[in-house]
Amino acid sequence: MDRLETIKKPLADDFREYERFMRGALRSESGYVSEIMEYIISSRGKGIRPMLVFLCAGIHSRVGIGKRAYLAAMLIEMIHNASLVHDDVVDCSDTRHGKPTVHNRWNAKVSVLAGDYILAKAFTVGMQSAQFDIVSYVTNGISELAEGELIQNDNHFRHDIDREKYFEVIFKKTAMLLGISCGVGALASGANMTVTGIARQIGLNLGMAFQIKDDLLDYAPQEQTGKSSCADLKEGKITLPLIAVLEACDDDERAAILAKVERVASEPELVAEIAEVVRSRGGMEAAEAVMHDYLDRARGIIDTYPDSEYKRSLAELCDYIGAREY
Ligand code: FPP
Ligand code: MG
Repeated sequence: MDRLETIKKPLADDFREYERFMRGALRSESGYVSEIMEYIISSRGKGIRPMLVFLCAGIHSRVGIGKRAYLAAMLIEMIHNASLVHDDVVDCSDTRHGKPTVHNRWNAKVSVLAGDYILAKAFTVGMQSAQFDIVSYVTNGISELAEGELIQNDNHFRHDIDREKYFEVIFKKTAMLLGISCGVGALASGANMTVTGIARQIGLNLGMAFQIKDDLLDYAPQEQTGKSSCADLKEGKITLPLIAVLEACDDDERAAILAKVERVASEPELVAEIAEVVRSRGGMEAAEAVMHDYLDRARGIIDTYPDSEYKRSLAELCDYIGAREY
């Protein structure tokens, strides 16, 4: 059994229920729309966010994970997938999870509208459920995703990029939704706001680590990740491995590297050159160290929970996020 399967083992029934719920929620009378939805559903990733919802629900419940957690996981996974369909248009990404992205398979109009459709369905199902505490907890932070993406776009190619600006972006675009996933899991099991807030902190720290790992994996080959290699650099997105190198440079070196980043669109061979500088000057190791700091913070909170199969899986998920290869 692979590592993720082991982590998901206590959640097998819950994942089955939630999958049924999710497919039902995205059903359309139109065969054309159903085909697009099926493509998006079947191209999904590992389901880290629903896993976090269920594990935190399990930790905080005496009676098991229930329908409120399925609703929360479904809302989060729908918002996440809508955001990725849009993100791939924004980032001009051709592949995700080893498959053509929606705009590559169809076109950008389809991507924008399919993302809108998923969001609209999520809100409809959420409101019909009348579980307003769950719906408002989930929807409260999602404008931050779009804000993070907008700020990130404004940061492209900027010479004054630094760690603080990078952390602001990844907190908003990624950590927020993982924080919501853990917090809402606790809330779904009846935890009070203090306890929910503690669970949220686990997700926020894991989310920071998750995005730093994602940015490290951007330097890996496409065959490994299913996404094109150095896609961030190609669009002028300066992430932690390069920021760490820039911090250690003098002003002239920094200006020279940033001048190369500015020219990547017209001189694509510069991408490999910059990536080599990042690797040889310790950028990967520096970013890994920061990622491990965030993972340790998440583990420190998980350690305070009483022992259970859910707690053990959550701790294992921390290790997995730090070690994943795609
Ligand atoms: C992936 O980052 C993208 C995100 C985590 C957030 C995307 C959010 C939006 C496009 C805003 C729209 C929001 C909603 C709610 C529809 P990445 O590009 O660094 O990762 P990748 O390598 O997986 O593409
Ligand atoms: Mg992207």
